[in-house]
Amino acid sequence: MTHLLRVVVVVGLAVHTSVCLAQGTSVSGTPHNLSATGPSSIRAASEEQVCVFCHTPHNASLVQPLWNRFMPISAYSVYSSSSLDSSPGQPTGSSKMCLSCHDGTIALGSVISRDQVIQIAGGITTIPPGSSNLGTDLSDDHPIAFAYDSSLAGQDPNLINPDSLPPELPLDHNSELQCTTCHNAHDNTYGDFLVMSNATSQLCLSCHQIQPGLMGGGHADCVGCHQTHSSPSGPFLLRQDNVTNTCTTCHDGSVSGAQDILSDLNKFSVHDTFSPVDPNNPIPAHATCADCHDPHTMVPGSASAPTIHPLMGSVNGINASGSPVEAASFEYEVCFKCHADETVFTSSWRPRQITQTNTRLEFASSAISFHPVTTQGRNPDVPSLKPGWTTSSMMYCSDCHASDGGGASGVHGSNEPPLLVARYETADFTPESASAYALCYQCHDRDTNDGILKDRSFDKHKKHIEGEDAACSTCHDPHGISSLQGTSLNNAHLINFDTSIVFPDPRTGRLEFRDLGQFAGECYLLCHGEAHSPERYD
Ligand code: HEC
Ligand code: HEC
Ligand code: HEC
Ligand code: HEC
Ligand code: HEC
Ligand code: HEC
Ligand code: HEC
Ligand code: HEC
Ligand code: HEC
Ligand code: HEC
Ligand code: HEC
Repeated sequence: MTHLLRVVVVVGLAVHTSVCLAQGTSVSGTPHNLSATGPSSIRAASEEQVCVFCHTPHNASLVQPLWNRFMPISAYSVYSSSSLDSSPGQPTGSSKMCLSCHDGTIALGSVISRDQVIQIAGGITTIPPGSSNLGTDLSDDHPIAFAYDSSLAGQDPNLINPDSLPPELPLDHNSELQCTTCHNAHDNTYGDFLVMSNATSQLCLSCHQIQPGLMGGGHADCVGCHQTHSSPSGPFLLRQDNVTNTCTTCHDGSVSGAQDILSDLNKFSVHDTFSPVDPNNPIPAHATCADCHDPHTMVPGSASAPTIHPLMGSVNGINASGSPVEAASFEYEVCFKCHADETVFTSSWRPRQITQTNTRLEFASSAISFHPVTTQGRNPDVPSLKPGWTTSSMMYCSDCHASDGGGASGVHGSNEPPLLVARYETADFTPESASAYALCYQCHDRDTNDGILKDRSFDKHKKHIEGEDAACSTCHDPHGISSLQGTSLNNAHLINFDTSIVFPDPRTGRLEFRDLGQFAGECYLLCHGEAHSPERYD
């Protein structure tokens, strides 16, 4: 300890002897004791001094505290992401001291005070590959070497003002966040040389005001989803290469309490969610868990249509007028991000008289007819509705688009395309059955009371659906008909014919439905060889 005492005295570091002794004691039992007496497998062949690997009283570099190592000159890749407000630069200050071993470029035993490199046992020179070797690519590590000041905290409401940091977390030069803000090279009390325990995320929560919404299960701790160093995702420091793989490490049926979402993603019709986390270069057609669930604000609870479910958290969206919203109030606003004005689909599922892939226009309150997703429906006479449903009811997109077969709720994946919660045949000549149109029969009665096959509204429903094996989709659009395209004469009652099955009437050349008031109308068309020139019902 005599050398060390001199160090302290010479450089005038205001550290009391007993503190030094305490430090000496605490370093010696840690992996940072690289002397031959050190506890770790990485230690000197014969060198017995503990502090010499980092400090020396003589010939030290100009770097305080009497630093005994050559500083790395490597050019580092630094952390970046689309949501970052700070601009991390090349490592500076005490971070360079750590990197003089932990970037793996400089021999552990290469110190300024010795002419010869101190030999490490087992022929080890630089820090071996593994989690302790961060490399020179720091783009996958927690950002360092930037000013964490109140101006940054002002830009990012999720950051605590650095003035209120706990004293254990020192900022270099009073504002720079460095390795030494989270680590103390001398003290391994909490493991990983952390300045405080991170057992209940209290280290992370000292700076980030983020409350993982679901405090139970796998969401209680930041490190359930995040990895501070050498993160496979890079941006956002996730534990896996992308959001989906991060979530499905638990949501794959292997963790009790965590719903199995992975098996839904292996179905036929899915949201393609395995896209890379690369926010600086987003690929156009993608959807990840985080597009619909804000991982930090989702909470259990309940909601009824159209209010957004609390499990989706405070996620952004596009509202019914087409404007962006920070936090969606309604589920459909989340879907409108990708299935409205900027849509991932340029053609509709079935060929129709009127083609529209902007679901915002299909479900608009101005639309000609529509299922009541954004506003109550137009038709006061819908006799087929089952108990629980009325003409004032509202519904979610996810009442029709969700996992089939009673899996987890949510728009994840289904074997009934396009991502439908139940079977819905669209082919011509489909024999009618409760299961063929199970989707519609969830809410519309089939053949009891005022059911579809009882012909209460369209008195030829049964003739067409059962007699001619016509699918519902031959006549009906499941979404709605936009007012830019349809008219209330021709497109009431979700009528939008499938043009691969229904053709213009050969006599008049017209392909047209005409609404003639309550439960009355007529059609001009050709179907199954039958010309309607027109045919009328009332
Ligand atoms: C593995 C490298 C390493 C070893 C070994 C090491 N130190 Fe340090 N020490 C550092 C670093 C890095 C700093 C700078 C910390 C900072 O800037 O916040 C430091 C700073 C200090 C300081 C300045 C006050 C402080 O705590 O910031 C003293 C005193 C000190 N060390 C004493 C010792 C003594 C005594 C030993 C041997 C028992 C020792 N160190 C071993 C890395 C080491
Ligand atoms: C003299 C070289 C050297 C310097 C300088 C150094 N370390 Fe280390 N550090 C090591 C070695 C060697 C290990 C053991 C690695 C292993 O066992 O894989 C280690 C281990 C660690 C560990 C893992 C501890 C554990 O329990 O496994 C952390 C965290 C760490 N160092 C942080 C730092 C930080 C932060 C700094 C700068 C303040 C720093 N180190 C400076 C050499 C150094
Ligand atoms: C914001 C806090 C924070 C900063 C800044 C930080 N670390 Fe860490 N570090 C941690 C935490 C927390 C762990 C524990 C492992 C984990 O939770 O992923 C850790 C673990 C480590 C480990 C052990 C290996 C591992 O990956 O588990 C090393 C080595 C390490 N840090 C070195 C550094 C170095 C070098 C720097 C600066 C370049 C640095 N750390 C900056 C928080 C931080
Ligand atoms: C000493 C304060 C501090 C601690 C402790 C800390 N962070 Fe940070 N972290 C920050 C600051 C400041 C930023 C930069 C934020 C910005 O620029 O928008 C940041 C950035 C991040 C980012 C990148 C944000 C982005 O927009 O790309 C992630 C992810 C992150 N921290 C996670 C963690 C986790 C997990 C922990 C705990 C292991 C942790 N942080 C501990 C202060 C801290
Ligand atoms: C470390 C494991 C783990 C990871 C990683 C994880 N989860 Fe979870 N998740 C759970 C567990 C366990 C529950 C059950 C919590 C409870 O009920 O206490 C849960 C519950 C949920 C719930 C609430 C379900 C309900 O009905 O209450 C949602 C939504 C959810 N997770 C989404 C996600 C998303 C999105 C991700 C990725 C960003 C993710 N999870 C990552 C373990 C995890
Ligand atoms: C259930 C998984 C999960 C948990 C738990 C979690 N995160 Fe995240 N976090 C994510 C995902 C996924 C992203 C990326 C979001 C995206 O792609 O937009 C993220 C992004 C971030 C970001 C950058 C963007 C932003 O929102 O500022 C920070 C910082 C962050 N997390 C910190 C934390 C901290 C601190 C904790 C613990 C208090 C935590 N996270 C807990 C999954 C999680
Ligand atoms: C971030 C963008 C995004 C958001 C938000 C989004 N989707 Fe999608 N959706 C997609 C992409 C991309 C596909 C195509 C997936 C593929 O082909 O693999 C898709 C496909 C679909 C499909 C058709 C699947 C098929 O097999 O063709 C339906 C139905 C669907 N989404 C409904 C919804 C609903 C309902 C919501 C709101 C709860 C929603 N989407 C939110 C991007 C998104
Ligand atoms: C009443 C049930 C129902 C509701 C509610 C519903 N859909 Fe659909 N959706 C379908 C059916 C059925 C199809 C298959 C297309 C067809 O038969 O014409 C479909 C097709 C799609 C497709 C495939 C591409 C296309 O345009 O044909 C997307 C994307 C889609 N729906 C998104 C949504 C979104 C977003 C919402 C809410 C804003 C929504 N759906 C509400 C039943 C529904
Ligand atoms: C297109 C939007 C969308 C995407 C993408 C998405 N979800 Fe969901 N998720 C939902 C909706 C909507 C719900 C249902 C909320 C409700 O119950 O009404 C939900 C529900 C859940 C639930 C609760 C299931 C239950 O039965 O309680 C979990 C867990 C979940 N999602 C996890 C995930 C994970 C993990 C991912 C990524 C692999 C993901 N989600 C991707 C929209 C989405
Ligand atoms: C040949 C064309 C055609 C086919 C096929 C068809 N419909 Fe209709 N449907 C109509 C017409 C026309 C109306 C309007 C009746 C009116 O004037 O109110 C209608 C009205 C409805 C209504 C609203 C009134 C009510 O009875 O509640 C529902 C619901 C409905 N159809 C569901 C279905 C379902 C479900 C299927 C398939 C099982 C189907 N339709 C098949 C032409 C058809
Ligand atoms: C989640 C419940 C639900 C499902 C599933 C559902 N509907 Fe409806 N449907 C309703 C409600 C509620 C109304 C009443 C809207 C109104 O008053 O205009 C309605 C109205 C209708 C109308 C009359 C619209 C008008 O303006 O006259 C038709 C036609 C219709 N549905 C057909 C279908 C078809 C075809 C399917 C299967 C693809 C289906 N529905 C699936 C709930 C549902």
